[in-house]
Amino acid sequence: MDALTLLTADHNRVRGLFTRFQSAHEAEDQKTQVELATKIIHELDVHTSIEETTFYPAISDVTDEVHELVVEGEEEHRVAKELMAEVQGLSPEDEHWAAKMKVLIESVEHHAEEEEKEMFPKLRSALDAAALEALGEALEAKKAELGAPTLADKIDLTKEELTQLAREQEIPGRSKMSQEELAATVAPA
Ligand SMILES: [Fe+2]
Ligand SMILES: [Fe+2]
Repeated sequence: MDALTLLTADHNRVRGLFTRFQSAHEAEDQKTQVELATKIIHELDVHTSIEETTFYPAISDVTDEVHELVVEGEEEHRVAKELMAEVQGLSPEDEHWAAKMKVLIESVEHHAEEEEKEMFPKLRSALDAAALEALGEALEAKKAELGAPTLADKIDLTKEELTQLAREQEIPGRSKMSQEELAATVAPA
């Protein structure tokens, strides 16, 4: 799978978790908030790790503009990791726990949007399809190494099963996704 499609799929899976976290927060359902926060932090750990070890080093020198976005991206990852560590160090009973989760969500939303709107289009024009495909395979291999689900774990699900999971997981844009995009995006049941 194309590296940019794979990373966008990761972003949309986390956006679904953010939406569900916000609903649980509004409903004052602390148990669900804690479960979703754990999933969010795990997803972000894997995603920042595959970007930092595999994606950013591979694309950093494509153009000067991309290089600048990578350096900014690394700083945004650092801020997100600090917030995640702070969240993990607090009791969910503390009002700062939910406040930090909110700031984490806002900062990750900003970062993911910047990657998708600024960095990825530049890479799409600078790199050919084969290079993006090879990079996608390297990202999948890194995920497997980290014990995270890969496309291969979900590709055998039917379109109906994928659609059902995407609905339950509140994946944004799911109605416009191809079967492969849905498979890349959903978390296994
Ligand atoms: Fe990133
Ligand atoms: Fe990303």
